[in-house]
Amino acid sequence: MKLFYNPASPFVRKVLVTAIECQLDNKISKQPLALTPVSPSDTLNADNPLGKIPALVLDDGSTLMDSRVICEYLNDQGRGSLFPADSTRWQTLRWQSIADGMCDAAVAVRYETFVRPQEHQWEQWINNQKDKYRRALVVLENEAAEIGNKIDIGTLSIAIALDYIDFRYADESWRDNFPALSAWHQTISSRDSLAQTIPKDL
Ligand code: BEZ
Repeated sequence: MKLFYNPASPFVRKVLVTAIECQLDNKISKQPLALTPVSPSDTLNADNPLGKIPALVLDDGSTLMDSRVICEYLNDQGRGSLFPADSTRWQTLRWQSIADGMCDAAVAVRYETFVRPQEHQWEQWINNQKDKYRRALVVLENEAAEIGNKIDIGTLSIAIALDYIDFRYADESWRDNFPALSAWHQTISSRDSLAQTIPKDL
């Protein structure tokens, strides 16, 4: 399998973490891509018409796109336990949705502030995006005890979202306001799959 990847992307990281958790990482070759909304890649577009990463080209030549689909595929192939089938499934998927939404907002701010020319940047829009992940932090602080020591696609996605905020917005200082979430994050961060995939620029 071939993964179009960028080590800064939290959505790519979800796929890498899942691959490690399911012991499939040695079956994936990584094709690095420096991609922004204004610098598309013809190579990627040939395999993923949406021009987005992560995109996983399977051995039969077909491509899976969207981190949620790719992660579920890898979990299935590796007989993993990241997507529970029992009654905890919906809370797991809900946490994944919250974390992915935080990343959507945080990545959108990154594009707005790093890629868009400064004279075209829209401060209210940036603040509204940041408010999305800030409101989500409040929810997760209240649920930190329930998150507990579970390891699944929901809790790993939350750790990845928090790491992306640290990576791009170190001045957020979210730990000051969310002590339970901070303690949880510190514990889960020592997990191998997370420690091996700390975000970095390409
Ligand atoms: C980033 O540099 O923050 C980034 C790169 C690729 C996808 C998403 C985010």
